[in-house]
Amino acid sequence: MNIVASEDNADMLENTIATCVCNEESLPLTSSLLANLLEFLKDDNLNILELKDFLLMDPSLCSQILKMANSAFYGARGEVTSIQRAIDILGIREVLSICLTIAIKQQFSPQKLAKSFEPDLFWKHSLLTAMIARDMATKYDSLICLDGIYLMGLLHDIGRITVATALPDLFDSVAAMSAITRLSLYENEIQQGCSHTELGFLLACKWSLPVHIALAIKYHHNPSASNSHKKELAIVHIADNISKTGEEAHILTHKTPLDESALELLGLTKEKHLKQYELAEKFRALVNSTWETLK
Ligand SMILES: [Fe+2]
Repeated sequence: MNIVASEDNADMLENTIATCVCNEESLPLTSSLLANLLEFLKDDNLNILELKDFLLMDPSLCSQILKMANSAFYGARGEVTSIQRAIDILGIREVLSICLTIAIKQQFSPQKLAKSFEPDLFWKHSLLTAMIARDMATKYDSLICLDGIYLMGLLHDIGRITVATALPDLFDSVAAMSAITRLSLYENEIQQGCSHTELGFLLACKWSLPVHIALAIKYHHNPSASNSHKKELAIVHIADNISKTGEEAHILTHKTPLDESALELLGLTKEKHLKQYELAEKFRALVNSTWETLK
């Protein structure tokens, strides 16, 4: 299924986005913490000592990483008190994605968010999508980088929080529309002429995010429209859709229709697709405990 803007809406979309781009205040800049983490993210030969030194300079990050390593899920024997041991337990890329979640959370001031935006629901949805996407990649394409697909899932909806911050009135009016129409926020955004996928893509460009992440932000509701990274985008699209099932009823969880060609591209039969829904319920408990630790 392709959701496309009509000609009028396309003009409106362009205007709204142009306004955001012109207004320097409307899109957050990268903090030095986030900028450093994004540099680590681009480094294929990430050095554990460099990451450790970086963490040791930030007591608040250190305490979050230690809390996570001591959480029940990782089941460490004895209390974890050193960053080195925490990295050993969590893994270097997991540490990086925890830091990234914390840094991005800090970029969006809760005071500026639209009234109908629910940060907890947003982040839990992002984490669950990331976990489902990584799990699917292990089964349906061994060539996909697992860290990369996790981050695509984690950041796919960053445009959502960008709209809620840069255009809070628009976010609230789209939310009100969704409550009445029962359509997804995305479908109603298109009607209103501004989508979180386009605004998120602008933010991804401003932050110089890696291309696969920028494409996930832009095409996760419409993976067939992309000319590259098609399998990764199909996975993120399906994972996003699955992770909205079973969540508490809220406008953020109204689903956009599934693009059936994404299932075909991955060779996902009906049975395998249903199985992913069952597995998602297992990940949900992990998401809840991760989120409680990071809050
Ligand atoms: Fe989305």
